[in-house]
Amino acid sequence: MLIAQISDLHLRPPGVPAYGVAETNAFAENAINALLRLRPAPELVVLTGDATDCGLPEEFALLTTLLDRLPMPVFCVPGNHDRREAMRAALAPKGYLPADGALDFVVEMRPVRLIGLDSLWEGHSAGRLEPASLDFLAAALAAAPDVPTVVAVHHPPFVCGIGHMDRIRLLDGAARFAAIVAANPQVERVITGHHHRPVAVRFAGTICQIAPSVAHQVTLNLAPGAPSDFVLEPPAFLLHQWIEGTGLVTHQAYVQRAPGPFPFVMPAEYPGGG
Ligand SMILES: [Fe+2]
Ligand SMILES: [Fe+2]
Repeated sequence: MLIAQISDLHLRPPGVPAYGVAETNAFAENAINALLRLRPAPELVVLTGDATDCGLPEEFALLTTLLDRLPMPVFCVPGNHDRREAMRAALAPKGYLPADGALDFVVEMRPVRLIGLDSLWEGHSAGRLEPASLDFLAAALAAAPDVPTVVAVHHPPFVCGIGHMDRIRLLDGAARFAAIVAANPQVERVITGHHHRPVAVRFAGTICQIAPSVAHQVTLNLAPGAPSDFVLEPPAFLLHQWIEGTGLVTHQAYVQRAPGPFPFVMPAEYPGGG
């Protein structure tokens, strides 16, 4: 089973770059093309939030147009840049989001289940998991304690060392979220976006993995007081492959095509043999 994770598209109305410089609509188009080129094709795609930059209806219209180019199902959790009701309305035809309340959902597939959680805290950049979402998570995990599960949520629940992002991580509900994950060893991975960088950590007895953005990246600056800014490093995404006997293996893939592949033609003096 192969799951592609894309994150933080930050779509804008047509012709409007994000922050005046990031051509996020073009970046998103490139990401869709990269997903379409993958062989084998992923069975599903998870978008871990900030699908749009401002949650505008025209941004969500662009999102659905782009995602409809993909032949496999796509599941989205909201980010702080999205708007809950606009997202619910735009994605209602897909049928996996609830009709009201938080945009939490379960995708019952095998060998790995997917749980999506809504950490959008209206009026804040930081994240919040409301008690109802945490109850939803606990109940969903209790329903299948033996099935490996991926939990997708936009806001990372840990401190990563980039101060301006740490201040807007998952804050409200984070302790109970960690407790629920810790009590459910079938949680194979917590996958997030928001930080626009690939980061992994041991978290609550599992692995928490932040995806890079398929658009702009947050500057890698671990100095205290680092300014809040971004760079146009190569856009990337994650591929999570379930391998029986190993578990979920995560690869980072780049959106842009690169030269190659080239064969490993070994020089005669190579010491490793044939
Ligand atoms: Fe973002
Ligand atoms: Fe975000």
